Parts: sequence; structure tokens; C-alpha cells
Amino acid sequence: MILINYFFWVMISVLMKNGYGKIKMRIVGLEFFYGSFQALKNINLEVKERQITALIGPSGCGKSTFLRTLNRMNELIPNTRMSGSIYLDGQDIYAPHVNPVHLRQRVGMVFQRPNPFPKSIFENVAFGPKVLGFHHKSNLFEIVEKSLKGAALWEEVSDQLHRPATELALGQQQRLCIARVLALQPEVILMDEPCSALDPVATLRIEELMQKLKRDYTIVIVTHNMQQAARASDWVGFFLLGELLEYGPTGDLFTRPKDRRTENYITGRYG
Ligand SMILES: Nc1ncnc2c1ncn2[C@@H]1O[C@H](COP(=O)(O)OP(=O)(O)O)[C@@H](O)[C@H]1O
Ligand SMILES: [Mg+2]
Repeated sequence: MILINYFFWVMISVLMKNGYGKIKMRIVGLEFFYGSFQALKNINLEVKERQITALIGPSGCGKSTFLRTLNRMNELIPNTRMSGSIYLDGQDIYAPHVNPVHLRQRVGMVFQRPNPFPKSIFENVAFGPKVLGFHHKSNLFEIVEKSLKGAALWEEVSDQLHRPATELALGQQQRLCIARVLALQPEVILMDEPCSALDPVATLRIEELMQKLKRDYTIVIVTHNMQQAARASDWVGFFLLGELLEYGPTGDLFTRPKDRRTENYITGRYG
């Protein structure tokens, strides 16, 4: 009996390691248009829970557009149209009863340039919970502390929570923006080139943080830094001119790309 249990345990570990984890988001036949311009063409992709999925590809090929469809942020852009389906835990996020504000709390987003509000460090992190109705001072403090710890920033700022956030170094500001997302207790974190404004040391800190975050969250990151995708992700999707050309485990895609165009891109022949 013990042996059989052990056998199943080993099988499950092997399967999990190979990425047969739970599917957190499923994208089916996604198309997206800005006016008459088609920016995304028949995208099909499964985002695994508690894994890091990196999206790479030349500039202008639709990575940011794709990321924004995952929490309905594209809806805020006028004269756009989408077809296809996106499921979060099996539920259609574009179904009429889904509240986009609630969805964006579950699927948070970190942008290319750190964008702290012109307020204190504390107020930046407390902002979202306050909007959601948390006002009790000690509860708020607890949320702020937990979020800053989660974003690996607490030790650097715990004695200066009332300092303006804009005075922090850029790398710290980006971790503050991550703390702001964590304060809303998201399930998925979208990151659109979160390190492109940062120096190599600050970049590495964000990458280390991502490894820690993936124990609790599902991460989808757009990056044009190939080394970053290779180092930091479990899955990689290669976008070209609005199409998802190739998608697979990071090791496979970088060592045995199936498509010649993927190979050209990852070896630096264009892009
Ligand atoms: N708000 C917009 N209005 C019109 N076209 C846009 C808008 N945002 C992006 N596009 C176009 O959609 C295509 C994909 O853009 P984007 O998703 O930003 O690519 P990437 O993030 O890969 O650089 C580009 O051709 C871009 O010019
Ligand atoms: Mg972009």
C-alpha cells in the first residue's frame, strides 16, 4: 500500500514538473482589432497555474494587446473589437455578468514604467484596499506590511512609510507597484516589460521576486529580454505580427524551436 502511494506521488511530481499543472487561464481563438487593423490573429494558449509564462517577440507584434485582453483593459480603448474566448478557472471573463473591476482585482497588472501615485509609500499600497472598503487602520497596516513584504520591499522602507513614493529608486518603485497589486490579493499578475526601465541589478531583484511570487500567483510577463525569458520563465510564447507562432516549455523553445522564424528571433537574426 505504501509502495503504491509512493508510486502515485512520484508520478504526480513528475507530471507537475513537466508542466501538466492546472490551467489557470485558457485563451481560445482570440482575435483583436483596432478599427480595421487586426492586431491579434487566432491566438490559442493555456496559462498554467503558479507558473511563469513569458511572451516574447519583436516590437509591435501584439504582446501588450494580448496581455490587456487578459484583464479586459483593452475595453478602455475606443474603437476596438474582440472575438474568441478567455476563461479564468473555466469561467468566461467576457460573460455579461462579469464585473471588469472585480476581474482586474483577480488579474492585476504591472506596467513598463513604474507608475506610483504622488502619495506616500503607505498610501500607494493602501489605495486599492481602501477603494474595496477596507478602512480599519490596523487592518490596513497589516495589508500594507504583508504586501510590501510580498514584494520584497518591506526591509528597505519599513521606517519611511510616509515618504513620497516618487522619491524611491526606480527599481523600488516597480516593487512598490507590485506591492500595490498584491494588496488586492490577485490570482494572476500580468507584467508588461516590467524591467525595461531598470538597471541590471534592479532587474535581477525583480526576477528573484518573480520566483518567490510564483509559489502563490500565476505570472504572465512580456519581455524583450531573451535572457530574462530563458532565465525566469517556465513557458514561453513567441509572437510575430499578431500570431502566436510557437508556445511551449521554456527549455524546449530555446533549445529546439520548431519554427525557423522562432529560431531566427531567439538567435538575434531579427527583432
Ligand atoms: N491604442 C492603439 N490604437 C491603434 N493601434 C494600436 C494601439 N495599440 C497598439 N496598436 C497597434 O497594434 C499592434 C500591436 O501593438 P502592441 O500590442 O503594443 O505590440 P507589442 O506590445 O508587441 O510591441 C501594433 O501595430 C500597434 O501599432
Ligand atoms: Mg508592448
